Amino acid sequence: MACHDAATDRDKVGPHLLGVVGRTAGSAESFLGHYSEAMKSAGAAGLVWDEANLAEYLKAPKLKVPSNKMAFGGLTNDDDIANVIAYLKADPKP
Ligand code: HEM
Repeated sequence: MACHDAATDRDKVGPHLLGVVGRTAGSAESFLGHYSEAMKSAGAAGLVWDEANLAEYLKAPKLKVPSNKMAFGGLTNDDDIANVIAYLKADPKP
């Protein structure tokens, strides 16, 4: 709640997650000045947030993108991860 908005393009502590599935890592225009070098480099190296990469990132953010600055330990439960990704893919409009 405090860190991301997935229903609008408003950034918080972290970048907005509207349309993040399929987006290149570190590429939200409005957050370019705030990403870590690690996240921008990962995107420049070709990391795209498809479902498989998101699942790995949400399980272990610091393993998937070393030195990224998201202060989140990760999710341990595979069902939770699948549900979060389904939520991120869903059309936020009513
Ligand atoms: C289930 C919960 C979370 C999900 C699904 C999630 C998802 C993501 C994703 C996909 C990115 C990469 C975005 C991009 O490349 O544009 C990201 C980055 C980020 N997230 Fe989260 N996040 C979660 C929890 C959190 C929490 C709790 C915080 C704050 C304490 C946070 C803060 C950030 C920050 C600051 C970044 C940018 C990292 C960097 O530039 O190194 N996130 N998050």
